[in-house]
Amino acid sequence: MGMGEAESAIMADDPLELFGQWFAEAVRSEPNDPEAMALATATPDGRPSVRMVLLKEHGPDGFTFYTNLHSRKGEELCANAHAALLFHWKSLRRQVRVEGPVSPVSAAQADAYFHSRPRRSQLGSAASDQSRPLAARVDYLERVEALARQYPEGDVPRPPHWSGFRLRPERIEFWLDRANRLHDRRLFLRGGEGGWSSTLLYP
Ligand SMILES: Cc1cc2nc3c(=O)[nH]c(=O)nc-3n(C[C@H](O)[C@H](O)[C@H](O)COP(=O)(O)O)c2cc1C
Repeated sequence: MGMGEAESAIMADDPLELFGQWFAEAVRSEPNDPEAMALATATPDGRPSVRMVLLKEHGPDGFTFYTNLHSRKGEELCANAHAALLFHWKSLRRQVRVEGPVSPVSAAQADAYFHSRPRRSQLGSAASDQSRPLAARVDYLERVEALARQYPEGDVPRPPHWSGFRLRPERIEFWLDRANRLHDRRLFLRGGEGGWSSTLLYP
């Protein structure tokens, strides 16, 4: 056993701080979309579904993403406000799992993010009935064009059903690739007074 091999390499008291460090390293090393994460939701009777979304804010308040509230994920989250997130940064060979309850962001926060996006992204998401059947792609493109004519320049109003959710983490688990497949895992659980406890897990 080499020097350091016997120790966990995941040393931290605050998992959100550690997430911030790993995320910053992913931003430097991933060829694309370091903020891409799988979002798992479930129906009230426990049937899961999963898809990728982009992490837009993270910090002590939680992990925020934006979407269409009438989409499949939006409807599942409105009926069952619990979710799980998964990051896999391939170039770093690292995984982070996050679980907890979700709540909607404020209308002001949704407006601020919606209007921070380029006009063409605003048009594309405002014109989309996300997750509804689309007879032909041209129908979507025509809706985008109609909206562009209605709002010929500048920002497009945010549709009330386009907004975001913030997941407040209760469990965060870090997985790190180690030599000889003797990988390293540390699970953090939120305690009563906002602090965190942690334990290693067998890989
Ligand atoms: C890398 C990546 C990032 C994505 N980011 C988002 C996002 O931030 N918000 C979103 O609504 N959909 C995003 N999508 C599309 C979703 O994966 C999904 O197709 C869509 O939201 C509909 O999902 P649903 O039917 O389960 O609601 C992204 C897809 C990929 C591949």
